[in-house]
Amino acid sequence: MRSWAAFLALLPVALATRPFLNEPDTGIEEVLGDTPEGTLPDLENIVGLPDFDWAARRYLNASSYTYYRLGAAGEWSYRNNLEAYGRFRFRPRTMVDIRGIESRLSTSILGYNFSVPFYISPCARAGLAHPDAEVNFMKAANEEGILYIPSLYATLSMEEIAAAKPEDGSQVHFQQLYLDSNDTATQELFSRAEKLDAKAIVFTIDSAADGNRQRGNRYSPPSEETEYVLSDWEYYAKIREMTKLPIILKGIQTVEDVRLAVQHEVPAVILSNHGGRQLDSAPSPLEIALEVYEEDPELFEQIEIYADGGVRYGADVLKLLALGVRAVGVGRPFMFANAYGVEGVRHAIQLLKHELAIDAGNLGLPDLKKIDASYVKWNSNGWYT
Ligand SMILES: Cc1cc2nc3c(=O)[nH]c(=O)nc-3n(C[C@H](O)[C@H](O)[C@H](O)COP(=O)(O)O)c2cc1C
Repeated sequence: MRSWAAFLALLPVALATRPFLNEPDTGIEEVLGDTPEGTLPDLENIVGLPDFDWAARRYLNASSYTYYRLGAAGEWSYRNNLEAYGRFRFRPRTMVDIRGIESRLSTSILGYNFSVPFYISPCARAGLAHPDAEVNFMKAANEEGILYIPSLYATLSMEEIAAAKPEDGSQVHFQQLYLDSNDTATQELFSRAEKLDAKAIVFTIDSAADGNRQRGNRYSPPSEETEYVLSDWEYYAKIREMTKLPIILKGIQTVEDVRLAVQHEVPAVILSNHGGRQLDSAPSPLEIALEVYEEDPELFEQIEIYADGGVRYGADVLKLLALGVRAVGVGRPFMFANAYGVEGVRHAIQLLKHELAIDAGNLGLPDLKKIDASYVKWNSNGWYT
């Protein structure tokens, strides 16, 4: 009895000290640990997306690295975004001919074809990692046939980024925007995006107030004037009349809001907690997708649903697709990869494409479009611990 009491008394301590590794230990320190601070290891030594975080942490100055890396408050959502995938299990099928899976990874996003169902999420300030900033994303996305969504708060202007597209008009991009109650400014942003031939607007709605970003505030204190931004359904009805472009909503976090998006004829939504940067304890995209799947799975047929947050492996992409998500965004890994310039971003895309193909093969999937929830497993209250 006494030993049980001692065990129970120590349990909270053990849980509180559970170590969190920003990247899982796959031996990078042993092989690249003597890379001098301020330099990058050779790109060919980067074997997975988490390696880019490790490399950028040594290469970038502390404030730039921190801007990319930070999460809100105690960063529970940041960690949970990464860890949630590990609590989901696959149900791999065997005795299936999966040869040729590499040629069956493509998908369409809002009717436009792409080589794979993952894209580069909108992230501000790519110039902190490389002088060519967002141009590297646009070029690498084009070379690899994937979607890039530039951020309104990019280092470069929308015009400078769009100028990196090929002149033949073959590359499709969407434009992310933050909007407020200044209709004149909103109209001007829509007109600029239309002129640059963006095929959709991605309106971010998970940032109605400033994020509580303590890690980042050490380097750049938050502005004294907190802004509270208007976004409601009446506002959505108004702005959709102000542009001919479809307006996707980014930052949906509950099944109720997906239902409302369907009712308001939104063309697509992105399940996202902004990479854990806005509201700590907001759910991971996998948890949101699971809520939608369990409570109203038809929603995945009624509206295109994309998701982003914590995706680092091909297997993570597959788990979201299995629940019905159509395309998956990746943020920080591409920001860190951009320290190497366009080659780094291309290498990151190629690594994730390859992982997607081999993981799908080992899952027994002959065609990515055939994935469904029978390929994954979770326990009755959602999670394996
Ligand atoms: C450095 C950084 C800047 C970001 N800037 C924006 C932004 O300007 N607009 C936006 O909608 N989301 C922004 N995000 C959120 C991303 O679009 C995306 O939701 C998130 O990065 C996904 O999580 P991941 O980084 O774990 O992949 C930013 C994320 C990061 C890391």
